Amino acid sequence: MPGSTSTMNELPVTSSKALPMTTSTNDLVNIADQHITKGLGRLRDHVFKEGKGLRVLTTDGKQLLDFSAGIGVTSLGHSHPDVTAAIIAQAQSIIHVQCAIALSEPYVQLVESLLAMMPDPSLDSFFFWNSGAEAVEAAVKIARTKTHRQNIIVMQGAYHGRTIGASSLTKSKTTFFKGTGPLMPGVHATPFPYWHAMGLPKDTPEEVLVERACRDFDNILKQQCAPEDTAAVFIEPVIGEGGYVPAPAAYVQHLRKQCTKHGILLVADEIQTGFYRTGKIWAIEHSDVVPDMMTFAKGIANGMPVSGVVTRKEIMDAMAPGSLGGTYSGNVVACAAGVATTRYMRSHDMLGNVEARSKQIFDGLRKIQEDVENGGWMIEEIRGKGLMIAIEFKDPSSHITSSHSRGPNVQLPPYLSTLVQNACMDQGLLCLTTSIYPVMRLIPALIVSEEEVDEMLGIMAQAVQTVAKTLE
Ligand SMILES: Cc1ncc(COP(=O)(O)O)c(C=O)c1O
Repeated sequence: MPGSTSTMNELPVTSSKALPMTTSTNDLVNIADQHITKGLGRLRDHVFKEGKGLRVLTTDGKQLLDFSAGIGVTSLGHSHPDVTAAIIAQAQSIIHVQCAIALSEPYVQLVESLLAMMPDPSLDSFFFWNSGAEAVEAAVKIARTKTHRQNIIVMQGAYHGRTIGASSLTKSKTTFFKGTGPLMPGVHATPFPYWHAMGLPKDTPEEVLVERACRDFDNILKQQCAPEDTAAVFIEPVIGEGGYVPAPAAYVQHLRKQCTKHGILLVADEIQTGFYRTGKIWAIEHSDVVPDMMTFAKGIANGMPVSGVVTRKEIMDAMAPGSLGGTYSGNVVACAAGVATTRYMRSHDMLGNVEARSKQIFDGLRKIQEDVENGGWMIEEIRGKGLMIAIEFKDPSSHITSSHSRGPNVQLPPYLSTLVQNACMDQGLLCLTTSIYPVMRLIPALIVSEEEVDEMLGIMAQAVQTVAKTLE
Protein backbone atom coordinates (compact mmCIF):
# COMPACT_ATOMS: atom_id res chain seq x y z
CA MET A 1 0.00 0.00 0.00
CA PRO A 2 1.38 3.44 -0.85
CA GLY A 3 2.53 5.32 2.23
CA SER A 4 2.73 2.16 4.32
CA THR A 5 5.99 0.62 5.53
CA SER A 6 4.41 -2.82 5.87
CA THR A 7 5.21 -3.69 2.22
CA MET A 8 8.87 -2.65 2.55
CA ASN A 9 11.30 -5.55 2.20
CA GLU A 10 14.15 -5.43 4.70
CA LEU A 11 17.55 -7.14 4.38
CA PRO A 12 19.44 -8.71 7.31
CA VAL A 13 21.52 -6.24 9.32
CA THR A 14 25.29 -6.89 8.87
CA SER A 15 26.79 -4.27 11.18
CA SER A 16 25.58 -3.31 14.61
CA LYS A 17 28.21 -0.56 14.94
CA ALA A 18 27.14 3.02 14.33
CA LEU A 19 28.60 4.14 10.99
CA PRO A 20 30.72 7.32 11.19
CA MET A 21 29.05 10.60 10.30
CA THR A 22 31.20 13.70 10.48
CA THR A 23 29.60 16.86 11.81
CA SER A 24 32.35 19.25 12.97
CA THR A 25 33.07 22.11 10.59
CA ASN A 26 36.83 21.49 10.52
CA ASP A 27 36.47 17.79 9.81
CA LEU A 28 33.90 18.40 7.09
CA VAL A 29 36.17 20.94 5.43
CA ASN A 30 39.17 18.60 5.72
CA ILE A 31 37.30 15.76 4.02
CA ALA A 32 36.14 18.17 1.32
CA ASP A 33 39.73 19.41 0.77
CA GLN A 34 41.00 15.86 0.42
CA HIS A 35 38.21 14.23 -1.53
CA ILE A 36 36.13 16.77 -3.42
CA THR A 37 37.36 18.11 -6.75
CA LYS A 38 39.25 21.39 -6.84
CA GLY A 39 37.32 21.95 -10.06
CA LEU A 40 34.59 23.40 -7.88
CA GLY A 41 35.21 26.96 -6.77
CA ARG A 42 33.89 27.79 -3.30
CA LEU A 43 33.34 31.25 -1.85
CA ARG A 44 34.37 30.29 1.68
CA ASP A 45 34.96 27.17 3.71
CA HIS A 46 31.69 27.36 5.54
CA VAL A 47 29.10 24.61 5.79
CA PHE A 48 25.43 25.50 5.51
CA LYS A 49 23.29 23.63 7.97
CA GLU A 50 19.89 25.29 7.96
CA GLY A 51 18.05 27.81 5.84
CA LYS A 52 14.73 29.55 6.40
CA GLY A 53 13.61 32.33 4.10
CA LEU A 54 16.68 34.53 3.56
CA ARG A 55 18.49 33.31 6.69
CA VAL A 56 21.16 30.65 6.59
CA LEU A 57 22.87 29.10 9.60
CA THR A 58 26.34 27.55 9.25
CA THR A 59 27.64 24.55 11.20
CA ASP A 60 29.88 26.87 13.22
CA GLY A 61 26.91 28.96 14.27
CA LYS A 62 27.15 31.96 11.90
CA GLN A 63 23.90 33.57 10.72
CA LEU A 64 23.97 34.82 7.12
CA LEU A 65 21.55 37.04 5.24
CA ASP A 66 21.34 35.39 1.84
CA PHE A 67 21.18 37.73 -1.16
CA SER A 68 22.37 34.96 -3.50
CA ALA A 69 19.42 32.54 -3.24
CA GLY A 70 21.80 29.77 -4.32
CA ILE A 71 22.32 31.71 -7.60
CA GLY A 72 18.69 32.60 -8.15
CA VAL A 73 17.18 29.28 -7.14
CA THR A 74 15.37 29.63 -3.82
CA SER A 75 12.87 32.11 -5.22
CA LEU A 76 10.43 31.58 -2.31
CA GLY A 77 13.23 31.48 0.27
CA HIS A 78 15.00 28.51 1.83
CA SER A 79 12.73 25.66 2.94
CA HIS A 80 9.44 27.30 2.01
CA PRO A 81 6.76 25.35 3.94
CA ASP A 82 4.49 24.74 0.92
CA VAL A 83 7.36 23.37 -1.15
CA THR A 84 8.79 21.34 1.71
CA ALA A 85 5.37 19.78 2.38
CA ALA A 86 5.00 18.88 -1.30
CA ILE A 87 8.47 17.28 -1.34
CA ILE A 88 7.73 15.21 1.78
CA ALA A 89 4.32 14.09 0.54
CA GLN A 90 5.72 13.11 -2.86
CA ALA A 91 8.71 11.26 -1.38
CA GLN A 92 6.31 9.28 0.80
CA SER A 93 4.11 8.44 -2.17
CA ILE A 94 6.52 7.46 -4.97
CA ILE A 95 10.07 8.78 -5.28
CA HIS A 96 11.10 8.01 -8.85
CA VAL A 97 8.99 7.67 -11.96
CA GLN A 98 11.26 7.25 -14.94
CA CYS A 99 9.83 9.44 -17.68
CA ALA A 100 10.24 6.84 -20.46
CA ILE A 101 8.41 4.26 -18.37
CA ALA A 102 5.41 6.21 -17.14
CA LEU A 103 3.85 9.59 -16.58
CA SER A 104 3.49 10.95 -13.08
CA GLU A 105 0.86 13.31 -11.76
CA PRO A 106 3.36 16.03 -10.76
CA TYR A 107 5.04 15.94 -14.21
CA VAL A 108 1.74 16.61 -15.97
CA GLN A 109 0.52 19.05 -13.30
CA LEU A 110 3.73 21.05 -13.72
CA VAL A 111 3.04 21.29 -17.45
CA GLU A 112 -0.49 22.44 -16.62
CA SER A 113 0.80 25.09 -14.23
CA LEU A 114 3.44 26.34 -16.68
CA LEU A 115 0.97 26.56 -19.56
CA ALA A 116 -0.85 29.23 -17.58
CA MET A 117 2.40 31.19 -17.13
CA MET A 118 3.68 31.27 -20.72
CA PRO A 119 4.40 34.63 -22.34
CA ASP A 120 2.41 33.42 -25.35
CA PRO A 121 0.00 30.52 -25.91
CA SER A 122 2.10 29.36 -28.89
CA LEU A 123 4.64 27.98 -26.39
CA ASP A 124 2.80 24.82 -25.54
CA SER A 125 5.10 21.79 -25.69
CA PHE A 126 7.49 20.86 -22.88
CA PHE A 127 10.43 18.67 -22.04
CA PHE A 128 11.80 18.52 -18.49
CA TRP A 129 15.35 17.82 -17.51
CA ASN A 130 17.42 18.36 -14.35
CA SER A 131 19.88 21.21 -14.84
CA GLY A 132 20.03 24.36 -16.89
CA ALA A 133 22.94 23.10 -18.98
CA GLU A 134 20.97 20.00 -19.94
CA ALA A 135 17.99 22.13 -20.94
CA VAL A 136 20.27 24.25 -23.12
CA GLU A 137 21.67 21.13 -24.77
CA ALA A 138 18.14 19.84 -25.39
CA ALA A 139 17.25 23.19 -26.97
CA VAL A 140 20.25 22.88 -29.31
CA LYS A 141 19.20 19.38 -30.25
CA ILE A 142 15.60 20.41 -30.92
CA ALA A 143 16.65 23.46 -32.96
CA ARG A 144 19.05 21.42 -35.08
CA THR A 145 16.53 18.62 -35.61
CA LYS A 146 13.72 20.99 -36.60
CA THR A 147 15.74 23.25 -38.92
CA HIS A 148 18.18 20.65 -40.31
CA ARG A 149 20.83 23.34 -39.72
CA GLN A 150 23.87 23.17 -37.50
CA ASN A 151 25.08 26.61 -36.41
CA ILE A 152 24.19 28.47 -33.24
CA ILE A 153 24.69 32.19 -32.55
CA VAL A 154 25.16 33.31 -28.95
CA MET A 155 25.92 36.61 -27.27
CA GLN A 156 29.46 37.61 -26.33
CA GLY A 157 29.33 37.30 -22.52
CA ALA A 158 26.67 34.58 -22.59
CA TYR A 159 26.49 31.88 -19.96
CA HIS A 160 24.59 28.73 -20.86
CA GLY A 161 26.24 26.09 -18.67
CA ARG A 162 29.35 24.01 -18.13
CA THR A 163 28.80 20.65 -19.81
CA ILE A 164 30.77 20.32 -23.04
CA GLY A 165 27.79 21.17 -25.25
CA ALA A 166 26.53 24.03 -23.09
CA SER A 167 30.01 25.41 -22.47
CA SER A 168 30.45 25.61 -26.24
CA LEU A 169 27.70 28.24 -26.07
CA THR A 170 29.22 29.97 -23.03
CA LYS A 171 31.24 33.11 -23.79
CA SER A 172 31.46 34.83 -20.42
CA LYS A 173 34.76 33.45 -19.04
CA THR A 174 37.34 31.01 -20.39
CA THR A 175 37.51 29.42 -16.92
CA PHE A 176 34.40 27.43 -17.84
CA PHE A 177 36.02 25.51 -20.70
CA LYS A 178 39.74 26.20 -21.05
CA GLY A 179 41.77 23.08 -21.67
CA THR A 180 38.71 21.00 -22.50
CA GLY A 181 38.43 21.58 -26.25
CA PRO A 182 37.64 20.99 -28.97
CA LEU A 183 34.21 22.23 -28.07
CA MET A 184 31.12 21.86 -30.24
CA PRO A 185 31.77 23.48 -33.63
CA GLY A 186 29.47 25.91 -35.39
CA VAL A 187 28.96 28.32 -32.48
CA HIS A 188 29.42 32.03 -33.24
CA ALA A 189 29.40 34.88 -30.73
CA THR A 190 27.91 38.28 -31.51
CA PRO A 191 28.53 41.41 -29.38
CA PHE A 192 25.90 42.13 -26.71
CA PRO A 193 24.83 45.77 -26.34
CA TYR A 194 26.70 46.46 -23.11
CA TRP A 195 28.81 49.63 -23.06
CA HIS A 196 31.77 48.16 -21.19
CA ALA A 197 32.04 45.04 -23.34
CA MET A 198 31.80 47.24 -26.44
CA GLY A 199 34.55 49.53 -25.18
CA LEU A 200 32.23 52.54 -25.00
CA PRO A 201 31.65 55.03 -22.17
CA LYS A 202 28.87 54.29 -19.71
CA ASP A 203 26.74 57.21 -20.88
CA THR A 204 26.64 55.96 -24.49
CA PRO A 205 22.98 56.27 -25.54
CA GLU A 206 21.15 52.96 -25.75
CA GLU A 207 20.28 53.60 -29.43
CA VAL A 208 23.98 53.70 -30.25
CA LEU A 209 24.69 50.43 -28.44
CA VAL A 210 21.71 48.79 -30.13
CA GLU A 211 22.66 50.13 -33.55
CA ARG A 212 26.18 48.70 -33.20
CA ALA A 213 25.02 45.35 -31.85
CA CYS A 214 22.42 45.00 -34.63
CA ARG A 215 24.99 45.84 -37.27
CA ASP A 216 27.43 43.29 -35.80
CA PHE A 217 24.72 40.64 -35.70
CA ASP A 218 23.76 41.29 -39.33
CA ASN A 219 27.42 41.10 -40.31
CA ILE A 220 27.81 37.74 -38.61
CA LEU A 221 25.00 36.43 -40.80
CA LYS A 222 26.80 37.86 -43.85
CA GLN A 223 30.40 37.05 -42.94
CA GLN A 224 30.60 34.03 -40.64
CA CYS A 225 27.41 32.11 -40.29
CA ALA A 226 25.02 31.97 -43.25
CA PRO A 227 21.34 32.11 -42.25
CA GLU A 228 20.78 28.89 -44.23
CA ASP A 229 23.23 27.14 -41.87
CA THR A 230 21.93 28.73 -38.67
CA ALA A 231 19.56 26.76 -36.45
CA ALA A 232 19.16 29.15 -33.52
CA VAL A 233 20.09 32.38 -31.79
CA PHE A 234 20.32 32.10 -27.99
CA ILE A 235 19.88 35.15 -25.78
CA GLU A 236 19.61 35.69 -22.03
CA PRO A 237 17.14 38.60 -21.78
CA VAL A 238 19.26 39.88 -18.88
CA ILE A 239 22.76 38.60 -19.48
CA GLY A 240 23.83 36.94 -16.22
CA GLU A 241 27.46 35.85 -16.09
CA GLY A 242 28.09 38.59 -18.64
CA GLY A 243 27.43 41.26 -15.99
CA TYR A 244 23.68 41.52 -15.25
CA VAL A 245 22.92 43.72 -18.23
CA PRO A 246 19.32 43.86 -19.49
CA ALA A 247 19.01 43.40 -23.25
CA PRO A 248 17.47 46.55 -24.75
CA ALA A 249 14.02 45.82 -26.19
CA ALA A 250 15.00 47.21 -29.60
CA TYR A 251 17.88 44.74 -29.83
CA VAL A 252 15.74 41.71 -28.99
CA GLN A 253 13.16 42.95 -31.50
CA HIS A 254 15.85 43.12 -34.18
CA LEU A 255 16.90 39.53 -33.42
CA ARG A 256 13.24 38.49 -33.64
CA LYS A 257 12.88 40.20 -37.03
CA GLN A 258 16.00 38.60 -38.46
CA CYS A 259 15.20 35.15 -37.06
CA THR A 260 11.70 35.27 -38.54
CA LYS A 261 13.06 36.46 -41.88
CA HIS A 262 15.61 33.65 -42.10
CA GLY A 263 13.76 30.78 -40.43
CA ILE A 264 16.19 30.78 -37.48
CA LEU A 265 14.79 29.85 -34.05
CA LEU A 266 15.05 32.51 -31.36
CA VAL A 267 15.76 30.85 -28.00
CA ALA A 268 15.33 32.86 -24.79
CA ASP A 269 17.48 31.34 -22.05
CA GLU A 270 15.33 32.20 -19.02
CA ILE A 271 17.19 29.87 -16.69
CA GLN A 272 18.21 32.73 -14.38
CA THR A 273 15.69 35.38 -15.45
CA GLY A 274 12.47 33.36 -15.43
CA PHE A 275 9.75 33.00 -12.79
CA TYR A 276 9.17 36.67 -11.86
CA ARG A 277 12.86 37.38 -11.22
CA THR A 278 13.01 40.54 -13.36
CA GLY A 279 9.56 41.96 -12.60
CA LYS A 280 7.73 39.97 -15.27
CA ILE A 281 7.12 36.22 -15.27
CA TRP A 282 9.66 35.99 -18.11
CA ALA A 283 12.30 38.62 -18.84
CA ILE A 284 11.68 38.33 -22.60
CA GLU A 285 8.32 40.01 -21.92
CA HIS A 286 10.15 43.31 -21.31
CA SER A 287 10.87 43.42 -25.04
CA ASP A 288 7.41 42.38 -26.29
CA VAL A 289 8.98 39.57 -28.26
CA VAL A 290 7.70 36.00 -28.49
CA PRO A 291 10.60 33.54 -28.69
CA ASP A 292 10.38 30.25 -30.56
CA MET A 293 11.77 28.40 -27.58
CA MET A 294 12.62 29.04 -23.93
CA THR A 295 14.86 27.22 -21.50
CA PHE A 296 14.10 27.47 -17.78
CA ALA A 297 15.36 26.03 -14.46
CA LYS A 298 16.51 27.55 -11.13
CA GLY A 299 13.50 29.48 -9.72
CA ILE A 300 10.94 26.92 -10.88
CA ALA A 301 11.21 24.47 -7.97
CA ASN A 302 12.78 26.49 -5.14
CA GLY A 303 15.86 24.30 -4.84
CA MET A 304 14.89 20.96 -6.34
CA PRO A 305 16.61 20.17 -9.65
CA VAL A 306 14.23 20.50 -12.54
CA SER A 307 14.81 22.35 -15.77
CA GLY A 308 13.08 22.38 -19.10
CA VAL A 309 12.51 23.51 -22.63
CA VAL A 310 9.25 24.84 -24.03
CA THR A 311 8.53 25.49 -27.66
CA ARG A 312 5.70 25.27 -30.17
CA LYS A 313 4.22 21.82 -30.70
CA GLU A 314 5.08 21.83 -34.39
CA ILE A 315 8.76 22.36 -33.45
CA MET A 316 8.81 19.81 -30.62
CA ASP A 317 7.04 17.27 -32.84
CA ALA A 318 10.20 17.06 -34.96
CA MET A 319 11.72 14.98 -32.14
CA ALA A 320 11.46 11.23 -32.57
CA PRO A 321 10.43 9.19 -29.50
CA GLY A 322 13.54 8.37 -27.47
CA SER A 323 15.58 11.31 -28.83
CA LEU A 324 15.00 13.25 -25.60
CA GLY A 325 15.12 11.92 -22.07
CA GLY A 326 17.31 10.81 -19.21
CA THR A 327 17.07 8.69 -16.10
CA TYR A 328 16.09 11.54 -13.80
CA SER A 329 14.53 13.83 -16.37
CA GLY A 330 11.43 15.40 -14.82
CA ASN A 331 12.01 13.68 -11.49
CA VAL A 332 8.73 13.31 -9.71
CA VAL A 333 9.82 14.89 -6.39
CA ALA A 334 11.39 17.83 -8.24
CA CYS A 335 8.20 18.24 -10.31
CA ALA A 336 6.08 18.16 -7.14
CA ALA A 337 8.29 20.96 -5.77
CA GLY A 338 7.80 22.80 -9.08
CA VAL A 339 4.02 22.45 -8.84
CA ALA A 340 4.05 23.81 -5.27
CA THR A 341 6.41 26.67 -6.18
CA THR A 342 4.48 27.77 -9.26
CA ARG A 343 1.14 27.45 -7.43
CA TYR A 344 2.45 29.77 -4.73
CA MET A 345 3.76 32.19 -7.34
CA ARG A 346 0.50 32.25 -9.25
CA SER A 347 -1.59 32.88 -6.15
CA HIS A 348 0.51 35.51 -4.36
CA ASP A 349 1.61 39.04 -5.22
CA MET A 350 5.05 38.17 -6.57
CA LEU A 351 5.17 41.07 -8.99
CA GLY A 352 4.13 43.57 -6.32
CA ASN A 353 6.92 42.47 -3.99
CA VAL A 354 9.56 42.27 -6.73
CA GLU A 355 8.66 45.79 -7.88
CA ALA A 356 8.62 47.32 -4.38
CA ARG A 357 11.84 45.66 -3.19
CA SER A 358 13.59 46.37 -6.48
CA LYS A 359 12.84 50.07 -6.15
CA GLN A 360 13.98 50.03 -2.53
CA ILE A 361 17.28 48.34 -3.49
CA PHE A 362 17.92 50.66 -6.45
CA ASP A 363 17.15 53.77 -4.33
CA GLY A 364 19.37 52.52 -1.51
CA LEU A 365 22.30 51.55 -3.73
CA ARG A 366 22.12 54.89 -5.55
CA LYS A 367 22.32 56.68 -2.18
CA ILE A 368 25.44 54.64 -1.40
CA GLN A 369 26.88 55.61 -4.81
CA GLU A 370 26.07 59.29 -4.25
CA ASP A 371 27.77 59.24 -0.83
CA VAL A 372 31.13 59.99 -2.40
CA GLU A 373 32.84 60.69 0.92
CA ASN A 374 32.08 57.17 2.16
CA GLY A 375 33.22 55.14 -0.83
CA GLY A 376 30.45 55.89 -3.32
CA TRP A 377 33.16 57.11 -5.70
CA MET A 378 34.22 53.47 -6.26
CA ILE A 379 30.88 52.63 -7.91
CA GLU A 380 30.59 53.06 -11.66
CA GLU A 381 27.03 51.90 -12.26
CA ILE A 382 23.96 50.36 -10.62
CA ARG A 383 21.81 48.42 -13.11
CA GLY A 384 19.52 45.48 -13.58
CA LYS A 385 15.85 44.57 -13.65
CA GLY A 386 13.54 43.51 -10.84
CA LEU A 387 15.54 41.52 -8.29
CA MET A 388 18.49 40.88 -10.57
CA ILE A 389 20.65 43.86 -9.66
CA ALA A 390 24.31 44.65 -10.30
CA ILE A 391 26.83 47.09 -8.87
CA GLU A 392 29.72 47.66 -11.27
CA PHE A 393 32.83 49.06 -9.61
CA LYS A 394 35.73 50.98 -11.09
CA ASP A 395 38.50 48.98 -12.69
CA PRO A 396 42.16 50.04 -13.08
CA SER A 397 42.58 47.83 -16.14
CA SER A 398 39.77 49.55 -18.02
CA HIS A 399 40.30 52.80 -19.89
CA ILE A 400 36.56 53.35 -19.50
CA THR A 401 36.09 52.96 -15.74
CA SER A 402 39.53 53.64 -14.28
CA SER A 403 39.17 57.37 -13.66
CA HIS A 404 37.90 58.46 -10.25
CA SER A 405 37.51 61.56 -8.14
CA ARG A 406 39.93 60.83 -5.27
CA GLY A 407 43.15 62.10 -6.81
CA PRO A 408 46.33 60.43 -8.09
CA ASN A 409 47.36 59.08 -4.67
CA VAL A 410 44.41 56.74 -4.53
CA GLN A 411 45.18 53.60 -6.52
CA LEU A 412 42.34 51.39 -7.67
CA PRO A 413 42.82 47.72 -6.90
CA PRO A 414 41.65 45.11 -9.39
CA TYR A 415 38.31 43.53 -8.48
CA LEU A 416 36.82 46.00 -6.02
CA SER A 417 33.76 43.79 -6.35
CA THR A 418 35.53 40.93 -4.54
CA LEU A 419 36.84 43.24 -1.81
CA VAL A 420 33.36 44.61 -1.13
CA GLN A 421 31.87 41.10 -1.34
CA ASN A 422 34.36 39.92 1.30
CA ALA A 423 33.58 42.89 3.53
CA CYS A 424 29.86 42.04 3.19
CA MET A 425 30.55 38.41 4.05
CA ASP A 426 32.46 39.48 7.16
CA GLN A 427 29.26 41.26 8.26
CA GLY A 428 27.06 38.25 7.49
CA LEU A 429 25.74 39.29 4.07
CA LEU A 430 26.02 36.66 1.37
CA CYS A 431 26.23 38.11 -2.12
CA LEU A 432 27.96 37.13 -5.36
CA THR A 433 30.13 38.64 -8.06
CA THR A 434 29.72 38.07 -11.79
CA SER A 435 31.46 38.57 -15.16
CA ILE A 436 35.04 39.46 -16.12
CA TYR A 437 34.34 43.01 -14.94
CA PRO A 438 34.28 44.06 -11.27
CA VAL A 439 30.56 43.48 -10.81
CA MET A 440 28.65 42.41 -7.70
CA ARG A 441 25.19 40.94 -8.10
CA LEU A 442 22.21 40.83 -5.80
CA ILE A 443 19.68 38.11 -6.49
CA PRO A 444 17.67 37.56 -3.31
CA ALA A 445 14.61 35.37 -2.85
CA LEU A 446 11.60 37.07 -4.40
CA ILE A 447 9.80 37.11 -1.05
CA VAL A 448 12.51 39.34 0.48
CA SER A 449 11.03 41.80 3.01
CA GLU A 450 11.49 45.55 3.40
CA GLU A 451 13.40 44.97 6.66
CA GLU A 452 15.76 42.49 5.03
CA VAL A 453 16.49 44.94 2.22
CA ASP A 454 17.20 47.67 4.77
CA GLU A 455 19.55 45.31 6.61
CA MET A 456 21.35 44.45 3.35
CA LEU A 457 21.71 48.12 2.44
CA GLY A 458 23.16 48.93 5.86
CA ILE A 459 25.79 46.19 5.52
CA MET A 460 26.55 47.18 1.92
CA ALA A 461 27.06 50.86 2.87
CA GLN A 462 29.39 49.78 5.66
CA ALA A 463 31.31 47.42 3.38
CA VAL A 464 31.79 50.07 0.70
CA GLN A 465 33.00 52.54 3.33
CA THR A 466 35.39 49.99 4.88
CA VAL A 467 36.98 49.11 1.54
CA ALA A 468 37.28 52.78 0.53
CA LYS A 469 39.05 53.57 3.84
CA THR A 470 41.72 50.99 3.04
CA LEU A 471 42.42 52.75 -0.26
CA GLU A 472 42.30 56.44 0.77
C1 LIG B 1 21.31 31.82 -18.17
C2 LIG B 1 21.80 30.49 -17.70
N1 LIG B 1 21.80 29.45 -18.53
C3 LIG B 1 22.24 28.23 -18.15
C4 LIG B 1 22.71 28.02 -16.88
C5 LIG B 1 23.20 26.65 -16.47
O1 LIG B 1 22.36 26.11 -15.51
P1 LIG B 1 22.90 24.93 -14.56
O2 LIG B 1 23.92 25.50 -13.67
O3 LIG B 1 21.66 24.47 -13.83
O4 LIG B 1 23.44 23.88 -15.47
C6 LIG B 1 22.74 29.09 -15.97
C7 LIG B 1 23.29 28.89 -14.62
O5 LIG B 1 23.67 29.80 -13.92
C8 LIG B 1 22.28 30.35 -16.40
O6 LIG B 1 22.31 31.40 -15.57
